[in-house]
Amino acid sequence: MADEKVMMGREPLLEHEKTKSIKQILLKSIAGVLLVGFACYLFLDSFTSLTPETEINLLPLEKAVNEQHPKKEVCDVSTGEWIPNPSGPIYTNATCNHIQNHQNCMKNGRPDTGYLYWRWKPSNCDLPPFDPVKFLNKMRDKSWVFIGDSIFRNHFQSLTCMLSKVEELVETYHDSAYRCQTLFSPNYNFTLAVIWAPYLVQYESIDSETLNIHLDILDSKWSSEYNKYDYVVISGGQWFYRSAIMYENNKAVGCHNCPYENLRELGVGEPYRKALQLTLNFMARAEHKPFVIFRTWTPDHFEYGKWYNGGICNRTKPF
Ligand SMILES: *[C@@H]1O[C@H](CO)[C@@H](O)[C@H](O)[C@H]1NC(C)=O
Ligand SMILES: *[C@@H]1O[C@H](CO)[C@@H](O)[C@H](O)[C@H]1NC(C)=O
Ligand SMILES: *[C@@H]1O[C@H](CO)[C@@H](O)[C@H](O)[C@H]1NC(C)=O
Repeated sequence: MADEKVMMGREPLLEHEKTKSIKQILLKSIAGVLLVGFACYLFLDSFTSLTPETEINLLPLEKAVNEQHPKKEVCDVSTGEWIPNPSGPIYTNATCNHIQNHQNCMKNGRPDTGYLYWRWKPSNCDLPPFDPVKFLNKMRDKSWVFIGDSIFRNHFQSLTCMLSKVEELVETYHDSAYRCQTLFSPNYNFTLAVIWAPYLVQYESIDSETLNIHLDILDSKWSSEYNKYDYVVISGGQWFYRSAIMYENNKAVGCHNCPYENLRELGVGEPYRKALQLTLNFMARAEHKPFVIFRTWTPDHFEYGKWYNGGICNRTKPF
């Protein structure tokens, strides 16, 4: 766990040039639906009636909603702003036991609490507060999986915390580091899982600094489980900032923050584009057609440097 925190801390700031090309690909290859924290789960109300069989390729969420509910107002949840929410979150560190120690800001002495009192307001509609009973009723006999990095695990835990207001989910699986976990609701026959696959493609550590990333091989941790789920939420991006050597056909094709001089610097965008393309091709070809949600990018934690050289994370309000 500490190891992972360290790695996350090393990720440098997002820079506009770097993210621009990625944004363009994303817009082209899939209508990226920005999951804005858990505010978006509130939105589920509008799309849970979509069947998992709905085509995944080029399916903008709003279009899907429109087709299913032609008369229902279409709202782009990804455009909006954070507004004050005096009523605060529906769970706290006292009511939810799924918060890991290193994430328990209050217990670890974070002095301010203002960060708890915000909610996402889409420009053209209002999101009702998340209703865990409604969610579980709609998700009866269904299954969800989150595939991505530790920020995604936070989303998974947040959802778990909100659902635990109705029913404590039972853990049916976890790996040794709790990076992959499966929970189950006996009353609703609902399965919720998180799978650790920060690159979506296969990778191995060379040393504590550098990784080998195989841009043409999916991370089997998720691809082998894909058929089990009705709803699949994927994310990625952040980890591509780490130093890595990229492979295709088991041959080194380049690297990022190159540890060796004889390799081409590939940057962040190109490897991420390939990993995402491989993922989307797999989904488009697979017979199993779950409802797929793609979460684009999250901002970095540290600014003005990295965690080990003077970087700080002093923001107390939404960016
Ligand atoms: C929750 O946070 C408070 C500080 O706000 C702390 O005193 C308490 O120990 C925490 N409880 C748990 C169960 O983590
Ligand atoms: C639970 O849900 C699964 C589908 O996810 C279904 O196959 C199974 O029959 C359900 N079990 C019960 C007891 O309804
Ligand atoms: C955070 O620290 C930076 C650098 O010291 C400073 O410029 C900035 O105003 C601070 N931001 C907040 C929100 O405190």
